[in-house]
Amino acid sequence: MNVTCIGSGYVGSVTAAAFAALGHHTCVVDVDPAKVESIRSGSSPIYEPGLEALIRRTVGKTLFADTSFASVSEADLVFICVGTPTAPDGTADLTYVKSAAESIGRHLSKDRFTVVVDKSTVPVGTADLVSRILAETSGLEPGNHFAVVSNPEFLREGFALEDVFFPDRIVIGAEHERAFGMMRELYRPLVKRERFGEFLGDMPFFEEGMNRPEAVWFETDTKSAEMIKYASNAFLAVKISYINEVARLCEALGANVQDVARGMGLDSRIGEKFLQVSSGWSGSCFPKDTAEFLATSRKADSELSIVRAAVESNRDMHRFVVRKAERKLGSLDGKTVGILGLTFKPDTDDARQTQAAFIIRELLAAGAGVRAHDPKGMSMFREVNPDLPVHYCDRPEDVAEGADAIILLTHWREYLELDWSAIGDAMRQRYVLDTRNFLPPNRIVELGFELEGIGVPPRKPAAACGTAVETGH
Ligand code: UGA
Repeated sequence: MNVTCIGSGYVGSVTAAAFAALGHHTCVVDVDPAKVESIRSGSSPIYEPGLEALIRRTVGKTLFADTSFASVSEADLVFICVGTPTAPDGTADLTYVKSAAESIGRHLSKDRFTVVVDKSTVPVGTADLVSRILAETSGLEPGNHFAVVSNPEFLREGFALEDVFFPDRIVIGAEHERAFGMMRELYRPLVKRERFGEFLGDMPFFEEGMNRPEAVWFETDTKSAEMIKYASNAFLAVKISYINEVARLCEALGANVQDVARGMGLDSRIGEKFLQVSSGWSGSCFPKDTAEFLATSRKADSELSIVRAAVESNRDMHRFVVRKAERKLGSLDGKTVGILGLTFKPDTDDARQTQAAFIIRELLAAGAGVRAHDPKGMSMFREVNPDLPVHYCDRPEDVAEGADAIILLTHWREYLELDWSAIGDAMRQRYVLDTRNFLPPNRIVELGFELEGIGVPPRKPAAACGTAVETGH
């Protein structure tokens, strides 16, 4: 089929590369010539494991990129994959969606039936809005010449290809049988796993993915599909906020949240996923989507109070981390804190709206100096937080220089391999706050560190408390 994807951000570039790999003739359209040029030359406009390889394998064969919307007139399906930032009132700002719809409308052909798909996360009712814009700008008739479909994306950054090729479910919201039919045809190679070996065979997730059950195909109306996306993301945010609050209570009562989460997750109704403690959730999806969902619920006079509580609790979690370091150091004034990890999670360069920004801001406000490192997200973090006077370090070990504390915020795998002995030598005092309960406690305390996690008993240096004992985590 002929596919056009509008937008080459996280969702657009992954979606386009995936359809191209499935054999569809796919064109990515972006107004930014640099991004278009990057795809044309076989490199990825964003950092996402495996994506560049996929682009290189498909570009010029089934994957193309352009700044013009011309390919829309030849397309069977047009995917809207543009950003939906948060407006000042918390709702999603649909400026880019509307302008994409207008441009698509101007290029729709009256000689073919085109399905326009909302892939971006958009509020309930947006499919209707896009349909109206298309009708106005094209003069064509919905249902006859085109149809708008909601097909929310559930990929996680860092695992995007795995999630796209081996999803749990594919949700399609539409009002026209013809549109459902075209979506089934588009996704058939993905559901049936055709051409997978050719493009993905050497990727690390391939074997495990092939052992997973086929994706569940789920058809519904457009509004329900739009709602599924928000309700899912908000539910996951609630789940994390919940385990983070339980962690705080564990800490107060002397229980171990790692074991508590494990024991809870063994109940298949609860499940083990998304019970990993952190300094809070963040990133480019959960904060934006919970804000929109909450704002919309208030407008509809049906406030989602549980989502409101999860958002507040998440802020408290960020603050909790700062208070914990402060309690340990007595006062933060004049102290130096080394931060490991600025992205909202590992394996991404996405440093927009991360908990690191909130936490660093609080540390600075309390008088601390901050040295920070991130393997992939440092330049984006610096760009989106130009006001933060942070000393950025090229080597992770350098955050330890004269530091009174190291706070690990993102569990990048490479932080396990650091020269922790040299880090200890460079610090003023050997204190690590591991907000992901990620570092191997024995190895760290044996080097004379005091190690605190979240919701787990603190670990004193081996010399101070006798032989170190590995806990359940
Ligand atoms: C999230 C959803 O998981 C995807 O299904 C969805 O498609 C995506 O948003 C989106 O709307 O586009 P993503 O934001 O990439 O994906 O990242 P997650 O892996 O969900 O992590 C979100 C935040 O929660 C991160 O800060 C992560 O560190 C944190 N988290 C996650 C925890 O603190 N604990 C956990 O157990 C899991």
